[in-house]
Amino acid sequence: MIKQKAAILLIVMLFTSRFMTLSCIEKLHITIVGTGYVGLVTGAGLAEIGNRVTCADIAQDKIEALRQGVIPIYEPGLEELVARNVQAGRLDFTSNVDEAIEQADVIFTAVGTPMGEDGSADLKAVKMVAENVAAHMNKYKIICTKSTVPVGTGAWVRQLLEAKGVKSDMFDVVSNPEFLREGSAVGDFLHPDRIVIGTESDKAQEIMASIYAPMVESGIQILFTNIPTSETIKYASNAFLATKISFINEIANFCKAVGANVYEVAKGMGMDKRIGALFLNPGPGFGGSCFPKDCHALVYMADKNKIPVRVIKAALKANEYQKTLAVKKLKRMIGSLEGKTVAILGLAFKSNTDDVRYSPAISAIKALLDQGAKVIGYDPAAQKTMQFVFPLGTIEYAQTAYQALENADACLIMTEWPEFKNLDLGLMSNIMKQRVLVDMRGLIDPEKAQEQGFKFFGFGRMSMRSILSGFYID
Ligand code: UGA
Repeated sequence: MIKQKAAILLIVMLFTSRFMTLSCIEKLHITIVGTGYVGLVTGAGLAEIGNRVTCADIAQDKIEALRQGVIPIYEPGLEELVARNVQAGRLDFTSNVDEAIEQADVIFTAVGTPMGEDGSADLKAVKMVAENVAAHMNKYKIICTKSTVPVGTGAWVRQLLEAKGVKSDMFDVVSNPEFLREGSAVGDFLHPDRIVIGTESDKAQEIMASIYAPMVESGIQILFTNIPTSETIKYASNAFLATKISFINEIANFCKAVGANVYEVAKGMGMDKRIGALFLNPGPGFGGSCFPKDCHALVYMADKNKIPVRVIKAALKANEYQKTLAVKKLKRMIGSLEGKTVAILGLAFKSNTDDVRYSPAISAIKALLDQGAKVIGYDPAAQKTMQFVFPLGTIEYAQTAYQALENADACLIMTEWPEFKNLDLGLMSNIMKQRVLVDMRGLIDPEKAQEQGFKFFGFGRMSMRSILSGFYID
């Protein structure tokens, strides 16, 4: 009889606790601290799938602009996503971070973690958010890290809160890394390959699952794991992709030497499901704020733990070499660069973004200026951002690709913007001083370039005719 009563009580308790959790979940309020690129896309994306979200940031001007519907970054589809969710009452913006943290059940940390000289990550902003959460602990909260942070940060955040006197049952720490690519971040958020949640708490796991429930119900995979594993998944994924790019870049250089076609090689490799077709595009080297930073951070953490990571180090080294290639090839084609005018088409580290951080175009421009060349840059989106690196006067900026090409001795294509694929080679050959073209993104058909009399460098897409005629430069 006693056993029966205990069983009934247990069922009632389980039912009630589940019901209570679910009813709490329904009223969940999410606050994103840090409304930069990751924070804004995450906030708008979480709102889009039905959550109530506040995006907070100490930068008042940015918040004011967002309230007016002005998006501070170039990201296709983001403006519409933000507008739709603001209008639906699911998304708002505030510069009162304290208040936003106070009202939150779940706080996503999406602040910057810049890389130090030695590859370490600067966690000042993460610490500030944790301390702010500790100071506004008015109810149970989840503190969930979206920023890419060194492995062990979750445990460190827990210690920070406990050291501030917050009781351990008042909060949980979660790691939920982002896998957004600049330029396609909205699609990446709404249709990810996977969602990774690192936590050691069942309660936090249930709440996080409820936040992403609409996606999981639509078939998207969710992986629950512990915090250090989740933190490592982020670094390992980026380092693997960076290695894949360095690998195909080396194969591209090899193809060039032996007359093979790297695009066909990549296609043939990619048909093997174990390899996969994506991220096998050769180019001028990987750039952006993530791959270089995260590879260096992983090397730094591994060195600290005395674990050799030779493959990742080699991927970084190969990338440094790849970034020198464009100007080296150009020099072989036109000789001394002193006094030559070079048009650089594409300044952003990739297309569909205005971001120039670690852009291979920067390395190329520096090398050209060092060798006495005059540079005219053009990019459909990154003209302004590049001016922070090369102010007007150090290089020139053109308003169109053809304006950049007028009277140029050479053209260097560094970014895969679609408009460069359709360049009118006939027009180019008429307006350029010399017909010299280096295509680091595989956009131009070498045969067509040849027809227009261009000296051309591109990655292995040579026909035997071109090879035999000595038209290609290796
Ligand atoms: C990268 C990852 O792809 C995202 O999953 C991750 O969330 C993000 O870093 C991050 O950690 O925040 P992102 O740096 O925006 O995203 O851009 P990618 O599309 O990955 O390109 C990175 C670099 O690799 C670019 O310079 C691009 O041109 C180059 N790349 C990419 C190639 O040279 N070849 C390829 O096949 C693909």
